[in-house]
Amino acid sequence: MTYGSLPGVIPLDGPDAFARDGLGLIAGVGDSVAAFDEARAAAEAVELPWPAEAVTDVAICGMGGSAIAADLVTGAYREVLLKPVTTVRDYHLPGWISDSTLVILSSYSGGTEETLTAASQALERNALCVAVTSGGKLGSFYAAEGVPVVPVVPGLQPRAALLRMMVPLLVMLDRHALTPPLTSDLEEARATLAAAVAAWGPDVPEAENPAKQLARTFEGRVPLIWGAELTAPLAVRWKGQFNENAKIPAYASALPELDHNEIVGFAGMPEQLAAMAHLVLLRDPRQHRQVQRRFDLTRELVESHVADVTSISSEGQGALARMLDLVVLGDYVSLYLALLRGVDPGPVEMIERLKERLAQTGYGRSADPSA
Ligand code: PA5
Repeated sequence: MTYGSLPGVIPLDGPDAFARDGLGLIAGVGDSVAAFDEARAAAEAVELPWPAEAVTDVAICGMGGSAIAADLVTGAYREVLLKPVTTVRDYHLPGWISDSTLVILSSYSGGTEETLTAASQALERNALCVAVTSGGKLGSFYAAEGVPVVPVVPGLQPRAALLRMMVPLLVMLDRHALTPPLTSDLEEARATLAAAVAAWGPDVPEAENPAKQLARTFEGRVPLIWGAELTAPLAVRWKGQFNENAKIPAYASALPELDHNEIVGFAGMPEQLAAMAHLVLLRDPRQHRQVQRRFDLTRELVESHVADVTSISSEGQGALARMLDLVVLGDYVSLYLALLRGVDPGPVEMIERLKERLAQTGYGRSADPSA
């Protein structure tokens, strides 16, 4: 597919084009298959001291890049999950979490205070706990408590470790028979990752690379990203990648809910914002027929209030493969956009500054692992 943009001043081809990517995030996407395999092996190797049938429900606790992994997994399997699976982005655990709840603490760094607080509460409730982390206080605290820990390679940005955080969640759901067996889905997903990197990676020249072409269409724009069903969490992932990689504002929303409120606001869209708004429709061939119609009809209603509209559809057979297809596209588009904006996509200074400030005051609970 092409998006009709012309090559601009900043090149996206040739070895020098990627020099600004100081942490190698673009090269990292290229390692997706290896990351997928390592994460799968690590999660399969962890011993779980309870039988699969002990689990009545699941809470996956995390924030940001470590939480979206949970949303993507539950988004892909939402129609076939056999027991409730909830993402918890909070300091507090919901009251229903009990000693038969599988609580997966998902923190790439192992130092995120919301997740650490949830971890101590999960132990207080005698929940069936597993951590997925590169270490930090979560890793050391849980290891000391004898809790299973799925190890993740350290030294990455959390959002660049998405597959390393996501695949263990899939393996855990599979090991507890909370989904139909995932073996063939995982194989297809792996092949999809390889194909996506081959199609959109940095070595593919812009003239043949839809991800590079698409990145140019976002120059000077504010992405408004809409998803539905399987693509609803993808819209959030794309938003986060535009924010953190390209360092621009971006907003995500989901149909059908936005048809019940958000569309009304388009009538009052300020001119300056309308001139910058680039609406992205993340579609999926298996969306409900009425959701397909909603995408078409809603687009008709709002398109005169935005500068651009781009419709993108996932490709692949299984839900996980279709999900990862668009994850990789969003990753590359946001990373290429960073280069077009002349910024290093790696550092996320705002997040780090805020975490440092919060750490100065602490957030003590008596059983708090980070205290
Ligand atoms: O992308 C990021 O860096 C953030 O969204 C982090 O993922 C978030 O702050 C949570 O940190 P961690 O993933 O290390 O638990």
